[in-house]
Amino acid sequence: MKHPVTCANCHDPVTMKLTVVNPAFIEAMERLGIDVSKASRQDMRSYVCGQCHSEYYFEPASKKVVFPWDKGYLPEEMYSYYAQKPAGFEQDWVHPDSGARMLKAQHPDFETFTGGVHARSGVACADCHMPFMRDKGQKYSSHWVTSPLKHVQASCMTCHTQDEKWLLDRVKTVQDNCWQLQHIAGQTVARAHETISRAAAIQTADKTRLEKARELIRRAQWFWDVVAAENGMGFHNPSQVMNTLGRSIDMAHQASAEADMATGRPF
Ligand code: HEC
Ligand code: HEC
Ligand code: HEC
Ligand code: HEC
Repeated sequence: MKHPVTCANCHDPVTMKLTVVNPAFIEAMERLGIDVSKASRQDMRSYVCGQCHSEYYFEPASKKVVFPWDKGYLPEEMYSYYAQKPAGFEQDWVHPDSGARMLKAQHPDFETFTGGVHARSGVACADCHMPFMRDKGQKYSSHWVTSPLKHVQASCMTCHTQDEKWLLDRVKTVQDNCWQLQHIAGQTVARAHETISRAAAIQTADKTRLEKARELIRRAQWFWDVVAAENGMGFHNPSQVMNTLGRSIDMAHQASAEADMATGRPF
C-alpha cells in the first residue's frame, strides 16, 4: 500500500472493523443527522475515504478542522455555508489583482461523488478503488488504493457487462469534456480578476458595483475550484461537474460586466 495512511485510519485496531477516526467527519455527519457509528458496512466503505477526501477549513480561533456540510454537499450549498462566515471564517486568501476575498477548495471527492449515479446506486469508493481480488482461491480487498483504470476488470466488471474498451472510452470522454470546460472556466475567471483590477484602478469607479463584481468572482472561482481540486476529473459525477463549470463561466462573465459598469463604460 503506497497510500499515505496507516491501518488505524480505516480499521479498529482490535476488531479490524472499518472505522472513521477523523473527528471533523464524525461531527459534520452528526450535524446532518447521521450517526457514523451506526453506519452500514457499505456506507463505511465510502466514509473511511470521506474522512480525508473532502473539503475542509480551519476555524480561525481554535484552528480546528471543520467540514462545511451543514447545508449540503453541492457547490452552492457549501458556498452559502461559507457566506455566513462560520465562527468568523471569511476567506482563505485575498486575490492580489481583484482584491476579492477568496475561498480555496481542497479535494472535495466525497462531496462530488455523493450526488452522482454511482453513489445513488449504492456503489462505494472501495468498490472501484479497493476491488476484491483473488489469490490462490483467497478473496481479499485490494489495498493498492489507486486509479481503478489500472484494474478495470476487477473494479468495474463486477457490475458492468460492457467490455473494458467501452468503459475506458466512457471515462476518457467524460474526463476530456471536463478538462476542456475546466480550462475555459479557469481562463474566464482569470480575465475577470484582471477586469476588476483595471476597474478598481479608476478613481471614479462605483464602489458598490466593484464589491458586487468581487462577490461574483469569488463565487465563480469557487465553482471552478470545486471541480479543479477534485480528483476524478469529472468521472465521479459528470452531469453535476459540467453544470458547475458552466455556472462558473457565467458568473465570471457577470463579474466582468459588473466591473465594466462600475467604470461607467458600456460593456
Ligand atoms: C484507506 C482505508 C484503509 C486502510 C488504510 C487499510 N484498510 Fe484494510 N480494508 C479497507 C476496506 C474498505 C476493506 C473492505 C472491508 C469491507 O468490505 O468490509 C478492508 C479490508 C481489510 C481486511 C479484510 C479482508 C479483506 O481483504 O477484505 C483486512 C485483513 C485488512 N483490511 C487489513 C488491513 C491492514 C493490515 C491495513 C494496514 C496495513 C489496512 N487494512 C489498511 C480499508 C483500509
Ligand atoms: C488519512 C487520510 C486518507 C484516507 C483515510 C484515505 N486517503 Fe486517499 N489519499 C490521501 C492523501 C493525502 C493522498 C495524496 C497522496 C499524494 O498526493 O501523494 C491520497 C491519494 C489517493 C489516491 C491517489 C493515489 C495514486 O494513485 O496516486 C486515491 C485513488 C485515493 N487516495 C483514494 C482513496 C480511497 C478510495 C480511500 C478510502 C478507501 C482513501 N483514499 C482514504 C489521504 C487519505
Ligand atoms: C464507479 C467507480 C468509482 C467510485 C465508486 C469512486 N471512484 Fe474515484 N475514480 C474513479 C475513476 C474512473 C477515476 C479516474 C482515474 C484516472 O483518471 O486514472 C477516479 C479517480 C479518483 C482519484 C484520483 C486518482 C488518481 O490516480 O489521480 C481519487 C483520489 C478518487 N477517485 C477518490 C475517490 C473517493 C474518495 C471515492 C468515494 C467518495 C471514489 N473515488 C469513488 C472511479 C471511482
Ligand atoms: C458496484 C457496482 C458498480 C461498479 C463497481 C461500477 N459501476 Fe458504473 N454503474 C453502476 C450502476 C448501478 C450505474 C447506473 C446505471 C446502470 O444501472 O447501468 C452505473 C453507471 C455507469 C456509467 C454511466 C453513467 C455515467 O455516470 O456516465 C458509466 C460510464 C460507468 N458506470 C462506468 C464505470 C466504470 C468505469 C467503473 C469502474 C471504474 C464502474 N462503472 C464501476 C454500477 C457500478
